[in-house]
Amino acid sequence: MSRVEKILSEIDILVRSRYPLIYILSHEEHRIEKLISRMIKNQKKAFKVWSVTSGLKDYKYHIDVEEEKNDVIETNPIFTDPLELLEHIIKNDEATLFLLKDFHAFLDDFTVIRKLRDAVYKLNASYKNIIIVSPVLKLPEDLQKEICLIDFPLPDHLEIFDLLRDVAKDLKQTNSKLVNLNKEDGLALAKAAQGLTLFEAENVFSKAVVIDSVLDKRDLDLILKEKQQIVRKSGILEYYPSTSNIDDLGGQTKLKKWLSLRGKALFSEEAKKFGIPSPKGILLLGPPGTGKSLTAKAISNFWKLPLLKLDFGKIFSGLVGSSEENMRTAIKTAEGLAPAVLWVDEIEKGLSGEKGGKSDGGTSARVLGTFLTWMQEKESNVFVFATANSIDCLPPELLRKGRFDEIFFLDLPSNKEREEIVKIHLTKRKRDFKIFDLQLLSEKSKGYSGAEIEQSIIEALYNAFYEQRELNTNDIAEALKIMVPLSTTHAETIKGLREWAQTRARMAA
Ligand SMILES: Nc1ncnc2c1ncn2[C@@H]1O[C@H](COP(=O)(O)OP(=O)(O)O)[C@@H](O)[C@H]1O
Ligand SMILES: [Mg+2]
Repeated sequence: MSRVEKILSEIDILVRSRYPLIYILSHEEHRIEKLISRMIKNQKKAFKVWSVTSGLKDYKYHIDVEEEKNDVIETNPIFTDPLELLEHIIKNDEATLFLLKDFHAFLDDFTVIRKLRDAVYKLNASYKNIIIVSPVLKLPEDLQKEICLIDFPLPDHLEIFDLLRDVAKDLKQTNSKLVNLNKEDGLALAKAAQGLTLFEAENVFSKAVVIDSVLDKRDLDLILKEKQQIVRKSGILEYYPSTSNIDDLGGQTKLKKWLSLRGKALFSEEAKKFGIPSPKGILLLGPPGTGKSLTAKAISNFWKLPLLKLDFGKIFSGLVGSSEENMRTAIKTAEGLAPAVLWVDEIEKGLSGEKGGKSDGGTSARVLGTFLTWMQEKESNVFVFATANSIDCLPPELLRKGRFDEIFFLDLPSNKEREEIVKIHLTKRKRDFKIFDLQLLSEKSKGYSGAEIEQSIIEALYNAFYEQRELNTNDIAEALKIMVPLSTTHAETIKGLREWAQTRARMAA
């Protein structure tokens, strides 16, 4: 059963068990309408759809495309007023499923809320139900207990494939040369468009035809690129190019081993059959500069999965949408793009509002709650890769067992690890590490993070370049000497973090 089918069957059960009020969060009212009409086809129930412009109408399943486009033009709309509509719903005796669009726009009006509440009580255990479909989340406090909220997933590749077939059919009618796809190509294009709404997918397919006058398998790249653009425009999630390799990370051998072990079983059907539960994610904790972000950047290459960066800060920024909607949209998009790794860098930064407590009316607590519940119940193939530099702002719920598969602590590198890090960064800059005294450099960089060691090598390069000679061990030793590492300036913080981690996290090295 696909995720969409699962949610539809959930809605079906709610409707059959006479649940009066369901709120579906989605940008795709046309798609929802169609899916719901299909869902209740076999029930003895009328299906009526309401919008401000069209009023209340019987939904016709077999409307052709033209008629659908003319949807808004209605000569004699009835019950366009929300109060009249609700009155009608209360009085009407026929078993009916009412699907209301635009209704969220009226949920600021107390009279409407009151009337809706009246309706809910009257409808309870009747054969009438109301479904509100809305792209925004607006649950009036007074109705929270009465509403069942459903976050509707984006279309999966089979749904997009159906759309693609319709698009192709239309194009072929105009000109048979416009499409050149077999089923396999079609499925590949549909998969590439996964993560988009049906509307967005349709636009992308149209664009692919316009650009070179044919829709064929060569459009795969274009579709992927368009998708990345659309995802980025949403402003919260971002495709992150795989810029690093796991070999760029010195030391942390236990972490690397774990990642390679888990990688083998990740999202595989075989592993599932073997009894391995679906993975949730990992939290990397440690002082700044110990390679946490580097590991995240390398993971997509390592596991051959797309890396999606979730900006927790932007969720709360108020620049786009409400925080809670943003979180839900981000989750929905990530699930649409699955299998994927969802990278939440410096998770504590986004959550710092939490520390202040009630200052934001509980918004950050709710948003975090949404995220945590999702992580807990997650069945989709999204692996959460979180990093944190400190635990001060992290709520205990986040660290509780069952959220992450593992919490790893990345400490400052040991003697041997520092040697390895120096090696990696010399090699990266095309130097032969054999002519450097690695042991000495490792000694001189005691207490330095990987990032600080890298910085010192860069500093040394500048100095040697200035003096127009080749880099040597002494340059790096000097640069190390001048730098004051964080472990000196923030000794107490790091000590605290280490102590906390000793009993609660696994050591990465
Ligand atoms: N263990 C390491 N091995 C090699 N390079 C490292 C290591 N740790 C840090 N670095 C270097 O420092 C840079 C910054 O580290 P980063 O991963 O951003 O640290 P963090 O996210 O833990 O604060 C990395 O891109 C890498 O070049
Ligand atoms: Mg980082």
